[in-house]
Amino acid sequence: MVLAPVKSTPLRRLIPSRLTGGGDDPIFALNAEANRRRALGEAVVNSTLGVLLDEELRLSTLPSVLEAYRRIPAERGAGYAPIAGPRPFLDAVRKDVLGQSTLLAHSCAVATPGGTGALALAVANFLEVGQALLTPSFYWGPYDTIASVAGRRVETFAMFDAQGRFHTAALQAALAQQQESQGRALLVLNTPCNNPTGYSLDDADWESLVPVLQAAAQRMPLCVLMDVAYARYAEGNPFQWVDRFAPLVDDLTLVFAWSASKSFAQYGARVGACIAVETDPRELLLVECALTNGCRGTWSNGNHLGLLAVTECLTDPILSAAAQKERAALRAMLTTRVEAFTRLCRSASLRHPRYEGGFFVTVECAHPEVAAARMRELGVFVVPIQGALRVALCSTPLSSVGRLVEALAKGVHAPA
Ligand SMILES: Cc1ncc(COP(=O)(O)O)c(C=O)c1O
Repeated sequence: MVLAPVKSTPLRRLIPSRLTGGGDDPIFALNAEANRRRALGEAVVNSTLGVLLDEELRLSTLPSVLEAYRRIPAERGAGYAPIAGPRPFLDAVRKDVLGQSTLLAHSCAVATPGGTGALALAVANFLEVGQALLTPSFYWGPYDTIASVAGRRVETFAMFDAQGRFHTAALQAALAQQQESQGRALLVLNTPCNNPTGYSLDDADWESLVPVLQAAAQRMPLCVLMDVAYARYAEGNPFQWVDRFAPLVDDLTLVFAWSASKSFAQYGARVGACIAVETDPRELLLVECALTNGCRGTWSNGNHLGLLAVTECLTDPILSAAAQKERAALRAMLTTRVEAFTRLCRSASLRHPRYEGGFFVTVECAHPEVAAARMRELGVFVVPIQGALRVALCSTPLSSVGRLVEALAKGVHAPA
Protein backbone atom coordinates (compact mmCIF):
# COMPACT_ATOMS: atom_id res chain seq x y z
CA MET A 1 0.00 0.00 0.00
CA VAL A 2 1.44 3.40 -0.95
CA LEU A 3 -0.26 6.33 0.76
CA ALA A 4 -0.98 9.68 -0.86
CA PRO A 5 1.45 12.48 0.17
CA VAL A 6 0.85 13.44 3.78
CA LYS A 7 -0.64 16.85 4.61
CA SER A 8 0.98 18.76 7.43
CA THR A 9 -1.16 19.08 10.53
CA PRO A 10 -0.09 20.68 13.80
CA LEU A 11 -2.10 18.10 15.76
CA ARG A 12 -0.48 14.97 14.39
CA ARG A 13 0.61 12.60 17.17
CA LEU A 14 2.92 10.55 14.94
CA ILE A 15 6.40 12.06 15.18
CA PRO A 16 7.67 13.69 11.94
CA SER A 17 10.61 11.32 11.47
CA ARG A 18 8.22 8.37 11.18
CA LEU A 19 6.13 9.87 8.33
CA THR A 20 7.41 7.33 5.85
CA GLY A 21 4.32 7.42 3.62
CA GLY A 22 4.41 3.71 2.68
CA GLY A 23 3.14 0.86 4.83
CA ASP A 24 3.58 -2.41 2.96
CA ASP A 25 6.92 -3.59 1.67
CA PRO A 26 6.76 -3.09 -2.16
CA ILE A 27 7.76 -6.71 -2.78
CA PHE A 28 4.91 -8.02 -0.65
CA ALA A 29 2.55 -5.61 -2.45
CA LEU A 30 3.59 -6.97 -5.88
CA ASN A 31 3.26 -10.52 -4.58
CA ALA A 32 -0.27 -9.75 -3.34
CA GLU A 33 -1.22 -8.36 -6.76
CA ALA A 34 0.16 -11.45 -8.53
CA ASN A 35 -1.76 -13.74 -6.16
CA ARG A 36 -4.96 -11.72 -6.65
CA ARG A 37 -4.74 -12.12 -10.42
CA ARG A 38 -3.91 -15.82 -10.08
CA ALA A 39 -6.95 -16.31 -7.83
CA LEU A 40 -9.08 -14.81 -10.63
CA GLY A 41 -7.89 -17.62 -12.89
CA GLU A 42 -5.02 -15.98 -14.77
CA ALA A 43 -1.87 -18.05 -15.45
CA VAL A 44 0.48 -15.70 -13.64
CA VAL A 45 4.24 -16.17 -13.26
CA ASN A 46 5.09 -14.73 -9.86
CA SER A 47 8.84 -14.21 -9.56
CA THR A 48 8.72 -11.70 -6.72
CA LEU A 49 8.99 -13.37 -3.34
CA GLY A 50 12.11 -14.85 -1.72
CA VAL A 51 10.70 -18.21 -0.68
CA LEU A 52 11.57 -21.51 -2.27
CA LEU A 53 8.54 -23.06 -3.98
CA ASP A 54 8.51 -26.49 -5.58
CA GLU A 55 7.47 -27.20 -9.15
CA GLU A 56 3.79 -27.28 -8.05
CA LEU A 57 4.17 -23.89 -6.34
CA ARG A 58 3.98 -25.37 -2.85
CA LEU A 59 6.31 -24.00 -0.17
CA SER A 60 9.31 -26.33 0.04
CA THR A 61 9.93 -27.57 3.58
CA LEU A 62 12.42 -29.96 5.15
CA PRO A 63 10.72 -33.02 6.72
CA SER A 64 13.65 -33.30 9.17
CA VAL A 65 12.73 -29.90 10.65
CA LEU A 66 9.13 -30.98 11.12
CA GLU A 67 10.42 -34.13 12.86
CA ALA A 68 12.58 -31.92 15.12
CA TYR A 69 9.52 -29.89 16.11
CA ARG A 70 7.71 -33.10 17.05
CA ARG A 71 10.56 -34.02 19.39
CA ILE A 72 10.30 -30.88 21.54
CA PRO A 73 8.09 -31.35 24.62
CA ALA A 74 5.23 -28.85 24.40
CA GLU A 75 5.85 -27.34 27.83
CA ARG A 76 9.53 -26.76 27.02
CA GLY A 77 8.80 -24.97 23.79
CA ALA A 78 6.08 -22.91 25.46
CA GLY A 79 8.42 -21.53 28.14
CA TYR A 80 10.60 -18.45 27.76
CA ALA A 81 13.92 -18.94 26.00
CA PRO A 82 16.96 -17.43 27.73
CA ILE A 83 17.33 -13.82 26.55
CA ALA A 84 20.49 -14.47 24.53
CA GLY A 85 19.09 -17.83 23.36
CA PRO A 86 19.62 -21.40 24.58
CA ARG A 87 23.33 -22.21 24.98
CA PRO A 88 23.19 -25.36 22.75
CA PHE A 89 21.63 -23.25 19.97
CA LEU A 90 24.34 -20.58 20.28
CA ASP A 91 27.11 -23.18 20.24
CA ALA A 92 25.54 -24.91 17.25
CA VAL A 93 25.22 -21.79 15.10
CA ARG A 94 28.77 -20.69 15.95
CA LYS A 95 29.95 -24.14 14.90
CA ASP A 96 27.82 -24.02 11.76
CA VAL A 97 29.64 -20.92 10.52
CA LEU A 98 33.05 -21.15 12.20
CA GLY A 99 33.39 -24.90 12.82
CA GLN A 100 36.31 -25.24 10.40
CA SER A 101 38.07 -22.09 11.60
CA THR A 102 40.30 -21.01 14.48
CA LEU A 103 37.95 -18.02 14.82
CA LEU A 104 35.42 -20.27 16.59
CA ALA A 105 37.33 -19.89 19.87
CA HIS A 106 36.98 -16.09 19.67
CA SER A 107 33.26 -15.91 18.95
CA CYS A 108 30.02 -15.30 20.79
CA ALA A 109 26.41 -15.38 19.62
CA VAL A 110 22.91 -14.29 20.57
CA ALA A 111 19.63 -15.56 19.15
CA THR A 112 17.67 -13.11 17.01
CA PRO A 113 14.34 -13.12 15.16
CA GLY A 114 15.79 -14.20 11.80
CA GLY A 115 18.74 -12.60 10.07
CA THR A 116 16.73 -9.37 10.21
CA GLY A 117 17.11 -9.27 14.00
CA ALA A 118 20.86 -9.77 13.68
CA LEU A 119 21.10 -6.92 11.16
CA ALA A 120 19.10 -4.65 13.46
CA LEU A 121 21.34 -5.51 16.43
CA ALA A 122 24.50 -4.78 14.45
CA VAL A 123 23.15 -1.44 13.23
CA ALA A 124 22.20 -0.42 16.77
CA ASN A 125 25.54 -1.48 18.30
CA PHE A 126 28.20 -0.58 15.75
CA LEU A 127 26.89 2.76 14.45
CA GLU A 128 25.93 5.94 16.26
CA VAL A 129 22.51 7.47 15.58
CA GLY A 130 22.64 9.44 12.32
CA GLN A 131 25.51 7.40 10.87
CA ALA A 132 25.25 5.21 7.78
CA LEU A 133 25.99 1.56 7.18
CA LEU A 134 27.91 0.87 4.00
CA THR A 135 26.81 -1.75 1.51
CA PRO A 136 27.13 -2.45 -2.24
CA SER A 137 24.73 -0.65 -4.58
CA PHE A 138 22.64 -3.80 -5.05
CA TYR A 139 21.26 -4.63 -1.63
CA TRP A 140 18.23 -6.10 0.11
CA GLY A 141 15.74 -3.18 0.38
CA PRO A 142 14.87 -3.72 4.07
CA TYR A 143 18.42 -2.60 4.99
CA ASP A 144 16.97 0.89 4.47
CA THR A 145 14.05 0.20 6.78
CA ILE A 146 16.21 -1.42 9.45
CA ALA A 147 18.58 1.55 9.38
CA SER A 148 15.87 4.19 9.28
CA VAL A 149 13.82 2.69 12.13
CA ALA A 150 17.02 2.84 14.21
CA GLY A 151 17.74 6.46 13.19
CA ARG A 152 20.63 5.37 10.97
CA ARG A 153 21.05 5.45 7.17
CA VAL A 154 22.41 3.44 4.25
CA GLU A 155 25.26 4.55 1.99
CA THR A 156 26.36 2.51 -1.00
CA PHE A 157 29.28 2.01 -3.36
CA ALA A 158 29.12 0.64 -6.94
CA MET A 159 28.96 -3.14 -6.59
CA PHE A 160 30.46 -4.02 -9.96
CA ASP A 161 33.33 -2.61 -12.02
CA ALA A 162 33.36 -2.39 -15.81
CA GLN A 163 34.38 -6.07 -16.03
CA GLY A 164 31.44 -7.13 -13.87
CA ARG A 165 33.68 -8.01 -10.91
CA PHE A 166 33.14 -6.90 -7.31
CA HIS A 167 34.26 -3.26 -7.25
CA THR A 168 36.91 -3.24 -4.50
CA ALA A 169 38.24 0.15 -5.57
CA ALA A 170 34.79 1.70 -5.08
CA LEU A 171 34.59 0.10 -1.64
CA GLN A 172 38.02 1.48 -0.76
CA ALA A 173 36.93 5.00 -1.73
CA ALA A 174 33.66 4.67 0.19
CA LEU A 175 35.47 3.51 3.34
CA ALA A 176 37.83 6.48 3.09
CA GLN A 177 34.82 8.75 2.69
CA GLN A 178 33.13 7.26 5.77
CA GLN A 179 36.32 7.61 7.77
CA GLU A 180 36.15 11.31 6.93
CA SER A 181 32.42 11.76 7.51
CA GLN A 182 31.72 9.55 10.54
CA GLY A 183 35.02 8.14 11.80
CA ARG A 184 33.80 4.54 11.78
CA ALA A 185 32.19 2.06 9.41
CA LEU A 186 29.78 -0.85 9.47
CA LEU A 187 30.23 -2.67 6.17
CA VAL A 188 27.43 -5.09 5.27
CA LEU A 189 28.24 -7.74 2.66
CA ASN A 190 25.62 -10.27 1.59
CA THR A 191 27.43 -13.27 0.11
CA PRO A 192 27.28 -16.03 -1.04
CA CYS A 193 24.20 -15.92 -3.28
CA ASN A 194 23.65 -12.20 -2.89
CA ASN A 195 20.11 -10.87 -2.85
CA PRO A 196 19.31 -9.38 -5.35
CA THR A 197 22.10 -10.20 -7.83
CA GLY A 198 22.91 -13.88 -7.18
CA TYR A 199 26.62 -12.92 -7.12
CA SER A 200 29.00 -14.71 -4.73
CA LEU A 201 32.42 -13.29 -3.89
CA ASP A 202 35.07 -15.60 -5.39
CA ASP A 203 38.74 -16.14 -4.50
CA ALA A 204 39.89 -13.26 -6.70
CA ASP A 205 37.39 -10.90 -5.04
CA TRP A 206 38.63 -11.91 -1.58
CA GLU A 207 42.25 -11.45 -2.64
CA SER A 208 41.60 -7.82 -3.47
CA LEU A 209 39.14 -7.20 -0.62
CA VAL A 210 41.27 -8.33 2.34
CA PRO A 211 44.05 -5.68 2.03
CA VAL A 212 41.42 -2.95 1.64
CA LEU A 213 39.67 -4.05 4.84
CA GLN A 214 43.01 -4.38 6.60
CA ALA A 215 44.05 -0.84 5.73
CA ALA A 216 40.65 0.61 6.70
CA ALA A 217 40.58 -1.29 10.01
CA GLN A 218 43.93 0.24 10.99
CA ARG A 219 42.61 3.75 10.40
CA MET A 220 39.18 3.61 12.10
CA PRO A 221 36.83 1.33 14.04
CA LEU A 222 35.51 -1.10 11.43
CA CYS A 223 32.85 -3.77 11.80
CA VAL A 224 32.25 -6.12 8.89
CA LEU A 225 28.83 -7.76 8.92
CA MET A 226 28.49 -10.82 6.71
CA ASP A 227 24.83 -11.40 5.86
CA VAL A 228 24.85 -15.16 5.20
CA ALA A 229 21.09 -15.65 4.85
CA TYR A 230 21.49 -17.68 1.62
CA ALA A 231 24.82 -19.37 2.38
CA ARG A 232 23.40 -22.90 2.40
CA TYR A 233 22.28 -22.53 -1.22
CA ALA A 234 25.85 -22.02 -2.46
CA GLU A 235 27.72 -24.90 -4.00
CA GLY A 236 30.39 -26.60 -1.86
CA ASN A 237 31.40 -25.38 1.60
CA PRO A 238 29.38 -22.17 2.08
CA PHE A 239 31.79 -20.83 4.70
CA GLN A 240 35.15 -21.70 3.14
CA TRP A 241 35.94 -17.96 2.89
CA VAL A 242 35.65 -17.36 6.64
CA ASP A 243 39.40 -17.84 7.25
CA ARG A 244 40.06 -14.91 4.90
CA PHE A 245 39.29 -12.88 8.03
CA ALA A 246 41.88 -14.65 10.22
CA PRO A 247 44.60 -12.01 9.58
CA LEU A 248 42.07 -9.19 10.11
CA VAL A 249 40.25 -10.03 13.31
CA ASP A 250 42.77 -8.39 15.63
CA ASP A 251 41.83 -5.08 14.02
CA LEU A 252 38.12 -5.33 13.22
CA THR A 253 34.93 -6.85 14.57
CA LEU A 254 33.52 -9.58 12.38
CA VAL A 255 29.78 -10.23 12.66
CA PHE A 256 27.53 -12.76 10.93
CA ALA A 257 23.79 -12.40 10.44
CA TRP A 258 22.78 -16.08 10.48
CA SER A 259 19.28 -17.21 9.54
CA ALA A 260 17.26 -20.43 9.61
CA SER A 261 14.64 -18.88 7.32
CA LYS A 262 16.14 -20.11 4.05
CA SER A 263 18.63 -22.76 5.26
CA PHE A 264 15.92 -24.70 7.11
CA ALA A 265 12.98 -23.37 5.05
CA GLN A 266 11.53 -21.93 8.26
CA TYR A 267 10.69 -18.40 7.20
CA GLY A 268 7.91 -17.99 9.77
CA ALA A 269 9.82 -19.44 12.73
CA ARG A 270 11.95 -16.28 12.99
CA VAL A 271 15.04 -18.15 14.12
CA GLY A 272 18.36 -16.43 13.56
CA ALA A 273 21.56 -15.42 15.29
CA CYS A 274 24.02 -12.60 15.52
CA ILE A 275 27.50 -14.12 15.78
CA ALA A 276 30.46 -11.88 16.61
CA VAL A 277 34.22 -12.50 16.51
CA GLU A 278 36.65 -10.48 18.64
CA THR A 279 40.15 -11.74 19.50
CA ASP A 280 40.45 -9.64 22.66
CA PRO A 281 38.47 -11.60 25.31
CA ARG A 282 37.43 -8.41 27.14
CA GLU A 283 36.10 -6.86 23.91
CA LEU A 284 34.30 -10.11 23.11
CA LEU A 285 32.57 -10.02 26.48
CA LEU A 286 31.59 -6.38 26.00
CA VAL A 287 30.15 -7.16 22.56
CA GLU A 288 28.24 -10.17 23.92
CA CYS A 289 26.77 -8.04 26.74
CA ALA A 290 25.79 -5.27 24.32
CA LEU A 291 24.10 -7.72 21.95
CA THR A 292 22.26 -9.47 24.81
CA ASN A 293 21.12 -6.12 26.12
CA GLY A 294 19.90 -5.29 22.60
CA CYS A 295 17.81 -8.49 22.60
CA ARG A 296 16.25 -7.60 25.96
CA GLY A 297 15.39 -4.08 24.83
CA THR A 298 13.71 -5.07 21.57
CA TRP A 299 12.15 -8.57 21.32
CA SER A 300 13.27 -9.80 24.75
CA ASN A 301 13.27 -13.55 24.04
CA GLY A 302 13.28 -15.59 20.86
CA ASN A 303 10.84 -18.25 19.67
CA HIS A 304 11.81 -21.03 22.08
CA LEU A 305 10.15 -23.86 20.14
CA GLY A 306 11.82 -22.80 16.89
CA LEU A 307 15.22 -22.36 18.57
CA LEU A 308 15.03 -25.83 20.15
CA ALA A 309 13.93 -27.46 16.88
CA VAL A 310 16.68 -25.82 14.84
CA THR A 311 19.20 -26.84 17.53
CA GLU A 312 18.09 -30.47 17.08
CA CYS A 313 18.58 -30.14 13.33
CA LEU A 314 22.07 -28.74 13.79
CA THR A 315 23.27 -31.10 16.52
CA ASP A 316 21.55 -34.49 16.15
CA PRO A 317 23.75 -36.39 13.67
CA ILE A 318 20.84 -38.27 12.06
CA LEU A 319 18.55 -35.24 11.77
CA SER A 320 21.42 -33.06 10.60
CA ALA A 321 22.37 -35.54 7.86
CA ALA A 322 18.71 -35.78 6.82
CA ALA A 323 18.38 -31.97 6.68
CA GLN A 324 21.51 -31.74 4.52
CA LYS A 325 20.17 -34.38 2.14
CA GLU A 326 16.76 -32.72 1.88
CA ARG A 327 18.37 -29.32 1.35
CA ALA A 328 20.61 -30.76 -1.37
CA ALA A 329 17.47 -31.87 -3.22
CA LEU A 330 16.06 -28.33 -2.98
CA ARG A 331 19.37 -26.92 -4.19
CA ALA A 332 19.31 -29.31 -7.15
CA MET A 333 15.78 -28.15 -8.01
CA LEU A 334 16.98 -24.55 -7.93
CA THR A 335 20.07 -25.38 -10.00
CA THR A 336 17.97 -26.72 -12.89
CA ARG A 337 16.11 -23.38 -12.94
CA VAL A 338 19.35 -21.39 -12.75
CA GLU A 339 20.86 -23.35 -15.66
CA ALA A 340 17.78 -22.95 -17.84
CA PHE A 341 17.53 -19.27 -16.96
CA THR A 342 21.16 -18.39 -17.69
CA ARG A 343 21.07 -20.32 -20.99
CA LEU A 344 17.84 -18.63 -22.15
CA CYS A 345 19.07 -15.18 -21.06
CA ARG A 346 22.19 -15.60 -23.18
CA SER A 347 20.10 -16.27 -26.29
CA ALA A 348 17.76 -13.37 -25.46
CA SER A 349 20.70 -10.94 -24.97
CA LEU A 350 19.71 -10.29 -21.36
CA ARG A 351 22.62 -9.35 -19.11
CA HIS A 352 22.99 -10.34 -15.46
CA PRO A 353 25.90 -10.67 -12.99
CA ARG A 354 27.74 -13.97 -12.58
CA TYR A 355 25.06 -16.27 -11.21
CA GLU A 356 25.75 -19.83 -10.15
CA GLY A 357 22.97 -20.34 -7.63
CA GLY A 358 20.78 -18.77 -4.99
CA PHE A 359 17.27 -17.47 -4.76
CA PHE A 360 17.58 -14.34 -6.94
CA VAL A 361 19.23 -12.81 -9.95
CA THR A 362 19.04 -9.29 -11.36
CA VAL A 363 18.73 -8.54 -15.04
CA GLU A 364 20.17 -5.26 -16.25
CA CYS A 365 17.46 -2.86 -17.36
CA ALA A 366 17.58 0.82 -18.27
CA HIS A 367 13.91 1.49 -17.35
CA PRO A 368 12.97 -1.04 -14.68
CA GLU A 369 9.57 0.45 -13.74
CA VAL A 370 8.45 0.56 -17.37
CA ALA A 371 9.76 -2.94 -18.05
CA ALA A 372 8.15 -4.43 -14.94
CA ALA A 373 4.80 -2.81 -15.83
CA ARG A 374 5.01 -4.21 -19.39
CA MET A 375 5.79 -7.64 -17.93
CA ARG A 376 2.82 -7.44 -15.59
CA GLU A 377 0.61 -6.89 -18.65
CA LEU A 378 1.99 -10.23 -19.86
CA GLY A 379 1.15 -11.82 -16.50
CA VAL A 380 4.77 -12.02 -15.30
CA PHE A 381 5.75 -10.36 -12.02
CA VAL A 382 9.31 -9.31 -11.12
CA VAL A 383 10.58 -6.54 -8.84
CA PRO A 384 11.94 -3.33 -10.38
CA ILE A 385 15.02 -2.03 -8.58
CA GLN A 386 17.54 0.64 -9.50
CA GLY A 387 18.93 -0.17 -12.95
CA ALA A 388 17.65 -3.74 -12.95
CA LEU A 389 14.83 -6.21 -12.47
CA ARG A 390 15.04 -8.63 -9.55
CA VAL A 391 13.93 -12.10 -10.48
CA ALA A 392 13.09 -14.65 -7.78
CA LEU A 393 13.94 -17.97 -9.41
CA CYS A 394 13.25 -19.58 -6.03
CA SER A 395 9.54 -19.08 -6.59
CA THR A 396 9.53 -19.76 -10.35
CA PRO A 397 9.03 -23.39 -11.43
CA LEU A 398 11.23 -24.73 -14.21
CA SER A 399 8.16 -24.96 -16.46
CA SER A 400 7.72 -21.16 -16.23
CA VAL A 401 11.33 -20.13 -16.82
CA GLY A 402 10.85 -19.94 -20.61
CA ARG A 403 7.84 -17.64 -20.26
CA LEU A 404 9.69 -15.58 -17.66
CA VAL A 405 12.68 -14.98 -19.96
CA GLU A 406 10.43 -14.18 -22.94
CA ALA A 407 8.62 -11.56 -20.86
CA LEU A 408 11.92 -10.21 -19.56
CA ALA A 409 13.17 -9.79 -23.11
CA LYS A 410 9.98 -7.93 -24.08
CA GLY A 411 10.17 -5.74 -20.96
CA VAL A 412 13.89 -4.99 -21.01
CA HIS A 413 14.08 -4.34 -24.76
CA ALA A 414 10.80 -2.36 -24.89
CA PRO A 415 11.12 1.34 -25.81
CA ALA A 416 10.87 3.57 -22.69
C1 LIG B 1 19.73 -10.53 2.01
C2 LIG B 1 18.85 -10.94 3.14
N1 LIG B 1 19.33 -10.83 4.37
C3 LIG B 1 18.61 -11.17 5.43
C4 LIG B 1 17.33 -11.64 5.29
C5 LIG B 1 16.63 -11.94 6.56
O1 LIG B 1 15.70 -12.91 6.55
P1 LIG B 1 15.10 -13.45 7.90
O2 LIG B 1 14.90 -12.29 8.82
O3 LIG B 1 13.85 -14.11 7.52
O4 LIG B 1 16.12 -14.40 8.42
C6 LIG B 1 16.77 -11.78 4.01
C7 LIG B 1 15.39 -12.24 3.81
O5 LIG B 1 14.81 -12.21 2.77
C8 LIG B 1 17.55 -11.41 2.90
O6 LIG B 1 17.10 -11.50 1.67
